[in-house]
Amino acid sequence: MCGIIGYVGPRPSQDILISGLARLEYRGYDSAGIAVIDGEGSLGTRKRAGKLQVLRDDLAAHPLTDGTTGIGHTRWATHGGPTDANAHPHLADDDKLAVIHNGIIENFSELKSELVAEGYTFRSETDTEVAAVLLGREYQASGDLTQAFRATVSRLEGAFTLLALHRDQPGLVVGARRNSPLVIGLGDGENFLGSDVAAFVEHTRHALAIGQDEIVAITPQEVTVTDFSGAAVEVEPFEVVWDAAAADKGGWSSFMAKEVSEEPEAVANTIRGRVHDGLVQIPELEGLDELFTGIDRIIVIACGTAAYAGMVGKYALEQWARVPVDVELAHEFRYRDPVIGARTLVVSISQSGETMDTLMAVKYAREAGAKTLSICNTQGATIPRESDAIVYTHAGPEVAVASTKAFVAQITALYLLALHVGRVRGALTDDAIAEQVSQLEAVPEKIARVLASEQEHIEQFAHWMADTRSVIFLGRHVGYPIALEGALKLKEISYIHAEGFAAGELKHGPIALIEPGQPVFVMVPSPTSSPLLHAKVVSNIQEIRARGARIIAVAEEGDAAVLPFADEVLRIPLAEPLFEPLLAVVPLHVFAMGLATAKGLDVDQPRNLAKSVTVE
Ligand code: F6R
Repeated sequence: MCGIIGYVGPRPSQDILISGLARLEYRGYDSAGIAVIDGEGSLGTRKRAGKLQVLRDDLAAHPLTDGTTGIGHTRWATHGGPTDANAHPHLADDDKLAVIHNGIIENFSELKSELVAEGYTFRSETDTEVAAVLLGREYQASGDLTQAFRATVSRLEGAFTLLALHRDQPGLVVGARRNSPLVIGLGDGENFLGSDVAAFVEHTRHALAIGQDEIVAITPQEVTVTDFSGAAVEVEPFEVVWDAAAADKGGWSSFMAKEVSEEPEAVANTIRGRVHDGLVQIPELEGLDELFTGIDRIIVIACGTAAYAGMVGKYALEQWARVPVDVELAHEFRYRDPVIGARTLVVSISQSGETMDTLMAVKYAREAGAKTLSICNTQGATIPRESDAIVYTHAGPEVAVASTKAFVAQITALYLLALHVGRVRGALTDDAIAEQVSQLEAVPEKIARVLASEQEHIEQFAHWMADTRSVIFLGRHVGYPIALEGALKLKEISYIHAEGFAAGELKHGPIALIEPGQPVFVMVPSPTSSPLLHAKVVSNIQEIRARGARIIAVAEEGDAAVLPFADEVLRIPLAEPLFEPLLAVVPLHVFAMGLATAKGLDVDQPRNLAKSVTVE
């Protein structure tokens, strides 16, 4: 949460900071601010509560003088509400230095008491200002920003990315990270720091990943990375594969609309380069067979939508690779003393690669001796760097807070992984793999068909339902996690109460919720490939319809059995059971987006949320 950017170079920094913040705004959007050292060596800052546009308007009306060294921040509040005073940057050393921060400084109140006792005063309720004041005190002692910064971060506990600059050292930005993201962008005579590569991808695609507990100092010509004690460390260069246009709205009404339209591509790009002669070959996993042969169980850990992708993946991993799989929310996993060891493979799933709950669970698993594999969409992110192996999803940048294209890409990556593990463990023949691969390769075109044939109809239907107060989603087998995903998406962006249930569970309690007119979405399994499940779900539909529910069936093309019982039918193309989730989720994403739009809500930036949840 919170987006961070730093710049040093020959160009006026204000526009670079603001456009970087615009690309990072998905990380937090309750206030924003910048600090710039201008040509005369004075420090100008501006910060405003509200979305980035409020800051932009303010700067347009009252510009800061230009300077070529600057830092910028977009906030998701933790300590102190979203006010101008609590917005970053925070100043210290007689307003000569500025600090921005992402994360939580856990020992801030002890540090604050220490500083108050020494006579320092504070202007905000944030933990960040404590770091700024501490840095000011250290600067007074050493007169050197990097040295003072090193002394400061060594006193901090918790998770943080911090950037700082000082008026007396123009042309220098220092940064540090612990359990919170920071990457370096290498330009020509200019350098950048960012929470992720989106901050600087329009200027450079050359990047360096920084490890935990490291400090970086950038000048226009130089990048120096050390550990907290000042010893030089190796850094890992990488090329950013996204281009700037991929992170732009490109004429769509919202990032979410653009990203839903990219679901076919997200699946196709995740498959690309990993299928040869009909068989799965994942280059990143070459030479790592012992990760899969020496295990007797897999635990999938993730949060939110990524966890639902994991639940879908469990069916494929068990069916194809014949390994027992548990799926667990990352924040629950590490606090229950799980039984894991060298024969456990922990697969984490994260779009951002920065979710703190997932990161901490991965570290915990490694420390307990388990093997770890990360499915991630973001290059240079922390979770893949902390894992033994990585399978990247190639969904491209996902900016809207609600995850859509990353979800289908995560399921695709899990399916590729399941086929790979099935081959390595001898559970699948080449013919069986080739058969599943051809089904997977057909998915992008099928998703595109759902969008082409159903999108308008669903949006219209969502519009009629704009006053609905509660929606229920039901599914069985792989349809169950899709029901959960449909409910999450609806509550997340349209603020409507929604619940997802396993259809068979209904009669054990939730059926009491059904009253006349209650809308219920039902994921109907294929009558041809899952006749038994289909019959059970049709019975479930009858049970709730008898009690007045309004049924919206997501059903295969040609399934006539649902017609007598459904008020609305949203059609998906024919597919084998394991591939249905990739199709059935699409109408649910479109529906949530349509309903939020009909209610006049901001679908990209729903209230109280941020895209990257980097606090526990
Ligand atoms: C829901 C959503 C969240 C994320 C969750 C994990 O639409 O986006 O539930 O899926 O916060 O995020 P990542 O995948 O970045 O770890």
